[in-house]
This record gives sequence, C-alpha cells and structure tokens, in this order.
Amino acid sequence: MIEATDLTKEFKTPIKQPGLKGAVRHLFHGEYRTKMAVDHVNFTIEQGEAVAYIGPNGAGKSTTIKMLTGILKPTSGRIQIDGIDPQKNRIQNAKNIGVVFGQRTQLWWDIPIEESFTLLKNIYEIPDAVYQENMRLFHEIFGLSEFVGRAARKLSLGQRMRADLAAALLHNPSIVFLDEPTIGLDVGTKEAMRELIQKINREREVTVILTSHDLRDVENICQRIIVIDNGQVICDKRIDQLTKEYPMDRGLILTLSQMQPGLLEQLRATDGITSVSMADAFTMEVTFAPEKHTAFEIVKEINEFAQIQDFKLAEPSIERMIEKIYRSGEVKK
Ligand SMILES: Nc1ncnc2c1ncn2[C@@H]1O[C@H](COP(=O)(O)OP(=O)(O)OP(=O)(O)O)[C@@H](O)[C@H]1O
Ligand SMILES: [Mg+2]
Repeated sequence: MIEATDLTKEFKTPIKQPGLKGAVRHLFHGEYRTKMAVDHVNFTIEQGEAVAYIGPNGAGKSTTIKMLTGILKPTSGRIQIDGIDPQKNRIQNAKNIGVVFGQRTQLWWDIPIEESFTLLKNIYEIPDAVYQENMRLFHEIFGLSEFVGRAARKLSLGQRMRADLAAALLHNPSIVFLDEPTIGLDVGTKEAMRELIQKINREREVTVILTSHDLRDVENICQRIIVIDNGQVICDKRIDQLTKEYPMDRGLILTLSQMQPGLLEQLRATDGITSVSMADAFTMEVTFAPEKHTAFEIVKEINEFAQIQDFKLAEPSIERMIEKIYRSGEVKK
C-alpha cells in the first residue's frame, strides 16, 4: 500500500542577474523564487491497483514520483510504501519497487543490455531461479532476443523502453512507477507496451502508478485516475465513474470545399454537438458526445449542407478531459 500524507515539495531557485556582477550580488544577497511543485498531496493506493497520475506539463507528476521512489526528499509530509519511508530506507524501498522514466533510461548507456541485467541481478541479489524465470518470460513477451546483445545507446526508442521496463521488473517488485513509459513511441509499440503493463498488473498483481499524456494508456491500463494541477490533487476517482460524469467527447476534423451559410450556427445548436470551430477557411473541427451521435451521423448531417473533401476522427485527448474537469467549476471528489 502506498500512502502519501500532505506530501509537499518546494523548489527554491536562485534569482540571478546576468553576468559576474549578478553572480557576486547573488552570493551576498541571495534571492530565491519558491515553486510549490507538490502542494499537500494526499492519496492511498492499494496493492494491485493501476492508477494514472495525470495533469498538464509542470503539474508536479514527476516530482511526486521522484519522492515516492526516494530520489527526492519531500519538503514536508509523509510517505509510506508498504510501511517503509522511501527516504529513510532507500535500499529496502528499492527492492520493493521498479521505476521507469520514459524520458531517460535507467540502463547503463554503454554496456550490452544483457550485462545490465546481470548487474541488476547482483545489485538486487535476485535468486537464480527468479532471474531465469523472469528472463525467459521477458524474452517471450518483450521480444528481448533481437537486441539484448546491444548497448542501450544503440537501441531504438521502442526497444529501449521495453528493455527499461524489463529491467524495472527483474527483481519482482510489488510496485512499479512508470513516468511516461510510452512517450515518443509509435502507435504499434505503444500498444505493445500497454499490453505488457496490463499483463504485469493483472497477472502478477503488481501495483502500477503511471503518468502519461496519452489518454489511451490511461484507459487501457488504469482503473483509477488522480488528476494533479499546480501541485494539488483536483480529482481522484475511478475511471468508470469519471467517464460517467465527464463523458469523453469524440472529435471529427473535416476538410470542406464549400459550405452553406448558417451551417456553423446550425451545428452549434444541435444537441450532443459540444463544439464547432473552423481551424482555417476549409477545416472544420467538431466535437460530439458519443452517447448522442455516431461519427457517421455527424458526417451525414454536414454533408447535406457542405461539400466534404475529407474527414478523420480525432483522438480524445487527456488535456481535453482535464479541461472539462476544470471548466465544470467545482472540483468533484
Ligand atoms: N529540480 C528542480 N528545481 C527547480 N524546479 C523544479 C525542479 N524539478 C521540477 N521543478 C519544477 O516543479 C514543477 C513540477 O515539475 P514536474 O517535473 O514534477 O512536472 P510534471 O507534472 O512531471 O510535468 P511534465 O508533464 O512536463 O513531465 C515545474 O514547475 C518544474 O519547473
Ligand atoms: Mg514529468
């Protein structure tokens, strides 16, 4: 179980004037700007849960994860990971958790992946039987064989991400923290990563805490979502409940070559169409509630009053859902 109580992290960054004069001045009259990156955050996560920790850029997600994994010391507040304080007992905590930072590999840059794994085996004192069983499984489901002989720096992003995830799981941690594990991956590789994460959550009952800007990761992997903004938790809910309260709009982008006057107003007045805008003279963007209309119905309707050259479905984005949560005014808990 993970418990965060009034977890807070303040960063003090020096305000420096440029040049030597500024540096000297700072030495004597140090002025600092304080940033509340994480501001009295509270949550409890049970063993086996898969939780999405989401929010806009700079919201405080990575900072929270770094505190939970013992990399950063909280300014105040308390963390307990299976009864352990990750700062005070870093080594003990490390045996219990796995970490992937999508932005930066945890593997040794210059040595072959298989040697990185052997090093990890020694560091974590992984018993032979466990190691062999995991290697067999990871070879099978992560497709490691194609690249284990190569150094991390020689891997493609998708291979590197798979290797990172395998490395994080090698010592059978009961909790994994995944900070943007699908960032930069193509659609197919993203899907493969999602399946792996889902599998370890469902089959091994590993607790997953995931940050991502891709709503599909969240939908596929997680049962619960914690939304953080400006360092504060603004929403903590089960996803099935959230999608009931904030139904996720679908979007359509249409290229029109002609359109009758009044079409925009007419669409905007249609029940179930939540927004209509023109990105440029020919490109119309429409969002609609999927429980009220199908994409086909919308296209058909527009087709009567305009000439459609092309259209495509827009992915629902996590930013849009967060925006909706904000716009609803009240913060529902
Ligand atoms: N080491 C640091 N020193 C000073 N400020 C920092 C430091 N690390 C993070 N911050 C600031 O704390 C805030 C939260 O950053 P954090 O990296 O946790 O955001 P995030 O939610 O992970 O964003 P993203 O989605 O962009 O990854 C930001 O304003 C950031 O500039
Ligand atoms: Mg981050």
